[in-house]
Amino acid sequence: MYKLIDGKEVAAAVRENIKAEVEKLSQEGKSTGLAVIIVGNNPASRVYVNNKKKGCEQVGIRSFEYALGEDTSTEELLSLIEKLNRDSEVDGILCQLPLPGQIDEQKVLNAISPDKDVDAFHPVNTGHIMIGDHSFLPCTPAGIIEMLKYYDIAVEGKECVVIGRSNIVGKPMMMLLLEQNGTVTICHSRTADLKSVTKRADILVSAVGKAGFVTADMVKEGAVVIDVGMNRNAEGKLCGDVDFENVKEKCSYITPVPGGVGPMTITMLLNNTLTASKNHKK
Ligand code: GUN
Repeated sequence: MYKLIDGKEVAAAVRENIKAEVEKLSQEGKSTGLAVIIVGNNPASRVYVNNKKKGCEQVGIRSFEYALGEDTSTEELLSLIEKLNRDSEVDGILCQLPLPGQIDEQKVLNAISPDKDVDAFHPVNTGHIMIGDHSFLPCTPAGIIEMLKYYDIAVEGKECVVIGRSNIVGKPMMMLLLEQNGTVTICHSRTADLKSVTKRADILVSAVGKAGFVTADMVKEGAVVIDVGMNRNAEGKLCGDVDFENVKEKCSYITPVPGGVGPMTITMLLNNTLTASKNHKK
């Protein structure tokens, strides 16, 4: 019998703590602020940005939205970031990805001051994660670690398999599972015989971006399955990478989509913004 990992429940518990700490700072006359940049008209990005702003409001963090046009140049975006880097009201800067094709994404991420980089995408913060000395953790992987802790799911000594090698999820997920003493394998589109690798997993994390990608025959009996996917199925319904209905019966724990990893990603963004605020107001 599987147990559902309720991301909303874990997120609510963590957000209560964040809210209390933001309130404490506020009573000392120290506000906490997040600048949220969105470029262009990507509808999914608009939904994510609205949810991030709503999350800020819930815990008492001020959010400042900067919505730029689809034809914004790299230079225009860089000059906004330089202004926000200098703004003492702004503790965190988040630039929603993906950016339109004419913008040099890496240049933009490199321009965000590492002490305001609440996504933990700057190479300096990526380097800190690599050596296990970090103040900002990448939001999605950090949210997954929080969920595992909440449900007392031990990582130490476990076979952990991550499908996907993105800079945002796959690679930092590998580092955080390793930090928890998991034995980690990372799979990708060129992995030979993917099923033989995923079948070894005690903890399987899928960050592929394809509906129905993880099927029951790829999952070991009793596995913990974490679904990072955010896809639309043929009927236009939001779904993850995992064929949930068929996979769930093999699992000890599984995350749903929606209501699994998603709420935790935003929660960890709020947590990183709180960390930035505390660091700035020391
Ligand atoms: N696009 C998809 N996920 C993310 C994220 O975690 N942060 C940002 N900035 N953009 C994203």
